[in-house]
Amino acid sequence: MRVVLLGTAAGGGVPQWNCACTLCAAARDGKLPSRTQDCAAVTGNSRDWWLLNASPDLRTQLTATAALWPGPGPRDTPVRGVLLTDAEADHAGGLTVLRGAAGLKVYAAPPVTAALAPLRGQLDSYGPWEWADSRADGGFVLPGGLVVTAHPVGGKVPKYVPDPVPDPGWVVAYRIEDLATGGVLVYAPCVGAWSPLLDELLSGADCALVDGTFHTPAEMGTAVRDGGGQAAMGHLPVSGAHGSLAALARHPGRRRIYTHLNNTNPLLDPASAARAQTAGTGIEVPLDGDELVV
Ligand code: MLT
Ligand code: MN
Ligand code: ZN
Repeated sequence: MRVVLLGTAAGGGVPQWNCACTLCAAARDGKLPSRTQDCAAVTGNSRDWWLLNASPDLRTQLTATAALWPGPGPRDTPVRGVLLTDAEADHAGGLTVLRGAAGLKVYAAPPVTAALAPLRGQLDSYGPWEWADSRADGGFVLPGGLVVTAHPVGGKVPKYVPDPVPDPGWVVAYRIEDLATGGVLVYAPCVGAWSPLLDELLSGADCALVDGTFHTPAEMGTAVRDGGGQAAMGHLPVSGAHGSLAALARHPGRRRIYTHLNNTNPLLDPASAARAQTAGTGIEVPLDGDELVV
């Protein structure tokens, strides 16, 4: 399976248009790599590509990635559809970039599909897509030889949803297995708290892309909900006894990668102490455009 990391930043990207913090300023000056919002593309056969989330930066990301260019017919595209992990604007906003593409299939959990009803109504006016339940029993098989299951990893609801129905699976992680090679990717860019389920997923994976939004819980200057592993804004921090770094350290045999990095996160700076500690644990912080073979 090939995996292209189209974007590796959290909502807003790096630099964020309206942020003058030190890290955003350094990215503007070219002293740190710029990053677009979290999104990846996977394929089992190099012909049928599936997007993992659809970031608002998708047009730029698709244009920068030769494997995803259209052709040979004038409107042919290797993009077959999208697997959404949640309904946040930075993960679903890019669906509008794909409007008009015929016959795309979008997988999402039922509360996510419901939350996106207004957007789906707009998109259907350009050309109908098929929407499927990502949490369907037994998972699903994607053209290209990928078998996928979705696993609930959090109840985080986007701010724009009025009167949300509580559901522990508002946010899912995907386990994607290449039938031909047996390679397994876990994609979990939004994680509220570490769980035994995540340990189980990591144990059976060759490679995991994991939520690296915040390094410390107080990074955004907001309150920590429970004093443990659960950061404000519903993202588990990297650091701390209950953070993701300690959890990922329990899985040394796998390739482990942070994505969805917020522009407040010192991991953005390759010279930071945070980055040295992460590298020492064997965990990677790759760049936009990097390709993995799993
Ligand atoms: C998040 O991951 O917490 C959200 O994407 C925040 C946002 O950008 O609205
Ligand atoms: Mn986000
Ligand atoms: Zn900033």
